[in-house]
Amino acid sequence: MPRESEPPASLAVPGDLDAALAGARRRLGVFGRDFHHFETVGSTNDVANRLALSGAPEGTTVVADAQTAGRGRMGRTWYSPSGAGLYVSVVLRPGPTPSPALWTLVAGVGLAEALRRVSGLDVRIKWPNDLVLGRKKICGILAEGSASRGATRHVVVGFGINLRPVAYPADLSGRATSLEGELGRPVERGIVLTASLEALATHIEDVRNSGVGPILDRWRALAPSSIGSQVEWRIPGGVQRGTTAGIDQDGALLVGTGGGIERIVAGEVRWL
Ligand code: BTN
Repeated sequence: MPRESEPPASLAVPGDLDAALAGARRRLGVFGRDFHHFETVGSTNDVANRLALSGAPEGTTVVADAQTAGRGRMGRTWYSPSGAGLYVSVVLRPGPTPSPALWTLVAGVGLAEALRRVSGLDVRIKWPNDLVLGRKKICGILAEGSASRGATRHVVVGFGINLRPVAYPADLSGRATSLEGELGRPVERGIVLTASLEALATHIEDVRNSGVGPILDRWRALAPSSIGSQVEWRIPGGVQRGTTAGIDQDGALLVGTGGGIERIVAGEVRWL
């Protein structure tokens, strides 16, 4: 019997993903070199985290056709039925800088650009890192770090891309869309996967070489709603409203209120 903490054994890589990865190998660097595919797992982030804790290198990639316990931000579940989406987690070994929070913005830029490139759709970022078409979400990103004595050991960047239209649960219907639903034609998941991994590899390398300045500028260009939008968020005993005023160097959302500029680091902001 495998112990509870051991990931399930991965399957042979399906032909479509294998061919796409082989074709993109040179552009992917270490990303996808150590590749694990599952028909069904609880959460690909959990599997990638366990692999990272047992020494898996940067770029280790976990893909599942379905998740039974897919996780979203703020403790939500990520609806992950078979065949409807691409459920992916990659291991990063970022070193001391920048912070894990900034790596999630880097991932947001990379994935937004990858989806724009493969689909031609006007994919935008909504703070902190939802990828949207208009007001509908097409991809969610969940970055989870592991630290030891204050130092980041690894970061798992998990992303779920909606590939095909499905009957979403009531709370999602009207708020989610998919690549095939928008394009009205089939989309090859291997192309979406390799474009995503390539964009992550490129942007992570850029940040290591040039720092976070250029990628934050790119994030701002892809996230027009981060300036001049009306938002509200919960505060103890009520709700605060304000107007978005960009992000700072740490990726926090700045919001102008009657009382000055608030800096929102985590938590839920509702766009009005
Ligand atoms: C969000 O928008 O709330 C983040 C959603 C992240 C979902 C992905 S799917 C692959 C990876 N595994 C998980 O359990 N979550 C992420």
